[in-house]
Amino acid sequence: MKSQNDILRRQFLSHVGQTSPAPQLITVDRAEGVFFYTPEAKRYYDLISGVSVSNVGHANPAVVEAVCRQARDYMHIMVYGEMVERPQVEYATLIASLLPDPLNSVYFLNSGAEAVEGALKLAKRYTGRTEMISMRRAYHGSTHGAMSMMGFPEGEEWKSAFRPLLPDCKAIDYNQFEQLQQITERTACVLCEPVQGEAGVRTPVEGYLQALRERCSEVGALLIFDEIQTGMGRSGEMFAMKKYGVTPDIVCLAKAFGGGMPLGAFVSSNEIMNSLQSNPVLGHITTFGGHPVCCAAGLAAAKYLIDNNIVESVEKKGALYQRLLESHPQVVEIRRSGLLLAVELGSSEKLYKIMDMFIERGILSDWFLYCDTAFRISPPLTITEEEIAGSVDIILECLNSL
Ligand SMILES: Cc1ncc(COP(=O)(O)O)c(C=O)c1O
Repeated sequence: MKSQNDILRRQFLSHVGQTSPAPQLITVDRAEGVFFYTPEAKRYYDLISGVSVSNVGHANPAVVEAVCRQARDYMHIMVYGEMVERPQVEYATLIASLLPDPLNSVYFLNSGAEAVEGALKLAKRYTGRTEMISMRRAYHGSTHGAMSMMGFPEGEEWKSAFRPLLPDCKAIDYNQFEQLQQITERTACVLCEPVQGEAGVRTPVEGYLQALRERCSEVGALLIFDEIQTGMGRSGEMFAMKKYGVTPDIVCLAKAFGGGMPLGAFVSSNEIMNSLQSNPVLGHITTFGGHPVCCAAGLAAAKYLIDNNIVESVEKKGALYQRLLESHPQVVEIRRSGLLLAVELGSSEKLYKIMDMFIERGILSDWFLYCDTAFRISPPLTITEEEIAGSVDIILECLNSL
């Protein structure tokens, strides 16, 4: 006889749109802190945070309470930008206070890709230019505009199936100083993740982001940071831009920004942002962007990070993972920014093998879109040292069996 779970899986495969021929097919029953559980009560360490979303842990009581309260008060009233809604206003005000000046105007959307789309349009609108430059091995989302900014050649695997994409987009190599000269007076914007996530955690070399900032200012191009994965504490600072001391003209936020609910934003100065108000009016609009329940969740999560000094603990926790794993003979290197780690095994065959072992033994990890030789460790930032040790024990067992 088929179990409830078998029926659910069959319905999932038949009726839920699929992204690959081989989904993981683990049924989720409930989640709490750094763990989630199947209906058979099997426990998994969540080392993905789905992806870099659950920074304050699953079912964080402060977030759950804020969501319930806001759902009772009101949910959707009117399209974004018309009404004064307390959760939006309070969250925008908090984010503006956390970001360096002049980043103080927050445009709310629903997702990361939408934040990128909005930022690109704002840059074109403000500069009156059309060329947009991204970094090779960058990932910014799956919509047409965001996909146009995927780096070449890796992104080509996805892009070529969907051409034509946006015109006047080009890519330069991240961390290559001499290529910054390709940014010119024609360039509307340069879109860059301060730490490249899906490239397998690539951090900027000394002085690179400063040089990028200087070149953009020199030619009047807007610098856009994509902090969708690094934002809200993941890098060990609330925003990676603080770690590197570079302020962009626009920053894109999403993932953990919604505290587990779908929320994105691009943030800029009032001067730049106000160019979206006219010529034409309503040049960028959204129905659900900044949904009050999502803003209440994001606000509660951000306050939780601040009130409990979570971000201050991130570097130490990331370093602990690194110290406990880096001397294992199967580990080629560990690339890391705060609690975002790529554990490099140097072989995709080993990677696929260890992924199966992880699932069997109760670890949820992942590889990276452009790097299938390293596995990801990006747990909730609330993970304790005991939980780190517990997950490392399982990882070491699996590395030993490789
Ligand atoms: C750096 C970065 N930018 C943008 C996105 C796209 O975000 P979303 O999936 O919410 O559209 C992602 C998602 O993985 C990301 O890692």
